[in-house]
Amino acid sequence: METTVGRHRRVIMFPLPYQGHVNPMFQLANLLYSKGFSITIFHTNFNKPKTSNYPHFTFRFILDNDPHDERYANLPLQGMGAFSRIILFNKCGADQLRHQLELELSAKDEPPVSCLITDASWHFAQSVADCLNLPRLVLRTSSLFCFLIYASIPFLDDLGYFNLSDNTATPLLDGLGYNNVPDDKRLEEQVAEFPVLKVKDVIKIGFKKDNDGMGDIISNMVKQTKASSGIIWNSFKELEQLQLETIRRDIPAPCFLIPFAKHFTTASSSLLDQDRSFLPWLDQQPRNSIVYISFGSVAQVEEKHFVEMVHGLVDSKQSFLWVVRPGFVSGSTWLEPLPDGFPGERGRIVKWAPQQEVLGHEAIGAFWTHSGWNSTVESVCEGVPMICSPFWGDQPLDARYVSDVWKVGVYLENGWKREEITNAIRRVMADEEMREKSRGLKQKLDASLIEGGSSYESVESLVDYISSF
Ligand code: UDX
Repeated sequence: METTVGRHRRVIMFPLPYQGHVNPMFQLANLLYSKGFSITIFHTNFNKPKTSNYPHFTFRFILDNDPHDERYANLPLQGMGAFSRIILFNKCGADQLRHQLELELSAKDEPPVSCLITDASWHFAQSVADCLNLPRLVLRTSSLFCFLIYASIPFLDDLGYFNLSDNTATPLLDGLGYNNVPDDKRLEEQVAEFPVLKVKDVIKIGFKKDNDGMGDIISNMVKQTKASSGIIWNSFKELEQLQLETIRRDIPAPCFLIPFAKHFTTASSSLLDQDRSFLPWLDQQPRNSIVYISFGSVAQVEEKHFVEMVHGLVDSKQSFLWVVRPGFVSGSTWLEPLPDGFPGERGRIVKWAPQQEVLGHEAIGAFWTHSGWNSTVESVCEGVPMICSPFWGDQPLDARYVSDVWKVGVYLENGWKREEITNAIRRVMADEEMREKSRGLKQKLDASLIEGGSSYESVESLVDYISSF
């Protein structure tokens, strides 16, 4: 085990405790450690990472140490309710964070603290860091274009985009089935202010200006990200050049774009155990023959939509590897709604997989994804074309860019309809032009990592910047 000996500067890192946020923060922590920094991780007990995978980091558990505290003791552990912690701790976490930071700043037996890096959604951390004169950088785990659109939510809300009649908007979000959406042409219209998007993409984000806890979180996240000392993005310049220019014009804090999946895997920060038992089977499959299916760590579907997915998949006659998390189908423990005989010889179903390794496997021909940003970047890193079935938040925005801007995937924008699923899978598996575009994007990414390339320079300038504090 390495220790802090020989490490002269320390970085304190504070991820949001959800898989899609923990992964990039630990990838960044590994990267900074490899550059000589000592790492201290602040974390909640909720979704505690496997600390034994990180003997070289120091862990401090904060915010939810009292198991009897009624504010959080009974909050849901699964599903959307688990996110209520973000709202709660942003409201009441400041004293504890300040106290723990004061202890770290005065510790005599540890290297001095250069800066704090928190998830952008821990917006309350900015005023705490300011009080202590500690530079705070943020890690933003979604794309740059998502940030720009989130920053425009109040404006889009004022323009009425979120106020389509409830009859139109509610079924669109309800279970994301889209089957009962009235024929409202406005949903298909372009958003004049962001012509890449359709009105329905904006509605599918699922939160609007200050309408609830999440609306507040987003607007404060944007405000305190702008006030931070720097923004680290899981992306690369060649992917989001225009958005980077816009952000650099509007925000004084420096931006660092680093495609984390190219530096470290997420195996050690996985909150669930990764099943590797199917790998010998995957090794036997022909090149580009398998559809890999996974919808991230939080998305849930209704049983009727799950059944529709199964039919779409069966009718496509493609072989597949499907990650079905326990709880993915609401009301089921795991695979109860599956028809007899499924998956048969054509496929494998697992609870959780080593996703990056799978995407890098030559048997994988396409990724049917919920368009979470980590999954999207991981797919781009491996040059795998995508079939996009987004749920909410940044996912519908990612799906739109994947299909309409980068043209490395197909967006299933009408929900779970078996014929459309079948067609999309067949199309993406057979479309050589799309595969070539995916390879082209991967090549740009690979080039950015070579000395002198944009991602390489981003890492170097981040290290220099942190060292300058
Ligand atoms: C969410 C949002 O969707 C995402 O856009 C946001 O930026 C962060 O929070 P999540 O829905 O879990 O995250 O999706 P995603 O961002 O794709 O992250 C999932 C992570 O879990 C990926 O790093 C993926 O490699 C990993 N994973 C997924 C596994 O390790 N094994 C699996 O079987 C499935």
